[in-house]
Amino acid sequence: MESVLFNDMSLSNGTIIKNRFFKGAMSEGLANVNNEPTEAHYHLYENWAKGGAGIVVTGHVMIDQRALGEPRNVVVESDAVLPHLEKWAENGTLHGTQLWMQLNHPGKQAMKGVVKEAIAPSAIPFPGRTGRLFLEPREITPTEIKEVIQRFGNSAKLAKQAGFTGVQIHGAHGYLISQFLSPRHNQRKDEWGGEIDARMKFLIEVYREIRRQTGNFQVGVKLNSADFMKAGFTEEEAIYVAEQLEKEGVDLIEISGGSFENPTMTGQNVKESTKKREAYFLDFAEKLRETVHVPLCVTGGFRSKAGMENAITSKATDFVGLARPFAIYPDFPNLMEANQLEEVILHPKKLGIKSIDNQIPLDSLWYMLQLERIGRGKTVRANHPVWLAFFEGLFKHGKEMFQQQRA
Ligand SMILES: Cc1cc2nc3c(=O)[nH]c(=O)nc-3n(C[C@H](O)[C@H](O)[C@H](O)COP(=O)(O)O)c2cc1C
Repeated sequence: MESVLFNDMSLSNGTIIKNRFFKGAMSEGLANVNNEPTEAHYHLYENWAKGGAGIVVTGHVMIDQRALGEPRNVVVESDAVLPHLEKWAENGTLHGTQLWMQLNHPGKQAMKGVVKEAIAPSAIPFPGRTGRLFLEPREITPTEIKEVIQRFGNSAKLAKQAGFTGVQIHGAHGYLISQFLSPRHNQRKDEWGGEIDARMKFLIEVYREIRRQTGNFQVGVKLNSADFMKAGFTEEEAIYVAEQLEKEGVDLIEISGGSFENPTMTGQNVKESTKKREAYFLDFAEKLRETVHVPLCVTGGFRSKAGMENAITSKATDFVGLARPFAIYPDFPNLMEANQLEEVILHPKKLGIKSIDNQIPLDSLWYMLQLERIGRGKTVRANHPVWLAFFEGLFKHGKEMFQQQRA
């Protein structure tokens, strides 16, 4: 009998997604110094499109040149980038693959050395270790809020024009939208802060502006199930926000959780009982399902075909979202379909030196190097030493921050 993972599914607008594999966003860091997509993007996404995923979401693309998350992010803010986007979209949509551009503004989660200033709902810096990585933010003004909302719409319009089949609003992981949602980071006294209706207004307005500028287009949202921080965004609030997004007509909600302060999205600090279910946010998705009927994707932790099949059969989720496995086996959906792979085994990327392991996102550095290898036509190096990735990452990012500042 064929696996449920290969059943197609139609979204409410009638688009048929060929299977249940959803490649979650992974920031590639492969743009050129002008923050345009490069050959490495075209090649990487061609690999993923050929690899069998139903939906492929890009790494986060920034909506404003002045607001990068990391060096070498792609920026989409004017039609000068269209020729590059067209090539990216052409390769990424081969074999009927859905290619959705993830749109993001980092807010205060913008690395030091990459931006000149950081804005946030309130002028609250990250405390402790996280604070060392990022600039102290200033409060975004109401006029700037409107400009950022307009920019999300403009970037989505350009993505549609270039041939992407959808966009995903990054509302998770502690970036600007997630900062607005969280009472820990949003302590505004105006219409954009306060109770949850006011804190989610920014996300809702971003969604509406994208709809206004794109019309009939696929628009998804990546949402945290919670921040897992004191006085942060809660599960109850996340359910409420998802209910409102459904009323607005969103096409798909992807569930994740955490931020740089507590990176639960990649499995850190996740309870052992939760890990037994393989995916970290399945329990939450089940709760969400009681009131929300829009197609769902749960991302984080899926590794085995059996675990993914259980999640779909139990109806907790419609799509299985995976990121890191796609960096090691870009074609793992095809391999699973051919019964050549039952499970992707990944080991934590740590040096065993607490001060480094707790402060540097080694996991991301290591996987980004693999993305670069695929993009440059090299083979994946699954046994690449973590210490080497650490030094390569330091060298590369140091050099890139220097170039970025000069560009
Ligand atoms: C190298 C790397 C880059 C990532 N970049 C993004 C990103 O740009 N946007 C996003 O929403 N999530 C990003 N993530 C998080 C993943 O989308 C996903 O939520 C997380 O890795 C858990 O899924 P997994 O266990 O299948 O890897 C990134 C993860 C990695 C490893």
